[in-house]
Amino acid sequence: MNSNYVIKSIKVVSLLLLVMMLGGINSFATGDSAKGKESYNQICAMCHGETGKGDGVAAASLDPKPRDLSSGEYVSTLTDEHIFKVIKEGGESVGKSNLMPAWGAVLSDDKIWDVVAYLRADICKCQHKAK
Ligand code: HEC
Repeated sequence: MNSNYVIKSIKVVSLLLLVMMLGGINSFATGDSAKGKESYNQICAMCHGETGKGDGVAAASLDPKPRDLSSGEYVSTLTDEHIFKVIKEGGESVGKSNLMPAWGAVLSDDKIWDVVAYLRADICKCQHKAK
């Protein structure tokens, strides 16, 4: 093995590592929707309903009703940061009803991003649209 070959291999390996790291950072920033689905079904579905329509078992007794999270029209008006905040700090933190509880004590920030990713990918099937 000559040293040129070794240097070349090191370059290839570092490039691969870099790509893997970037992939990792990226999936961190955008969340993992499969994991988000688990959290959603455990704690959000009872109010928002399994498909997000706001028809969970606990919804009937709530006023205001849990938001229809399947509405792409509505949820595309919300930024990811807004959705993150309302999950972490509750409805009141964004001027909405405190019937939307704060989940910061239950879900880590990573898990909240996973839920945001799940909402985008499967519940509203929408992205934020700037007006
Ligand atoms: C106890 C019932 C309940 C649970 C559990 C619940 N929510 Fe809510 N959520 C509500 C209600 C009620 C509202 C409507 C608040 C309003 O319009 O003032 C709401 C509103 C929202 C909104 C819209 C915020 C906005 O600015 O319009 C989002 C997004 C949301 N909830 C996400 C979630 C997620 C994700 C979970 C699970 C981590 C969850 N909610 C769990 C009751 C609940």
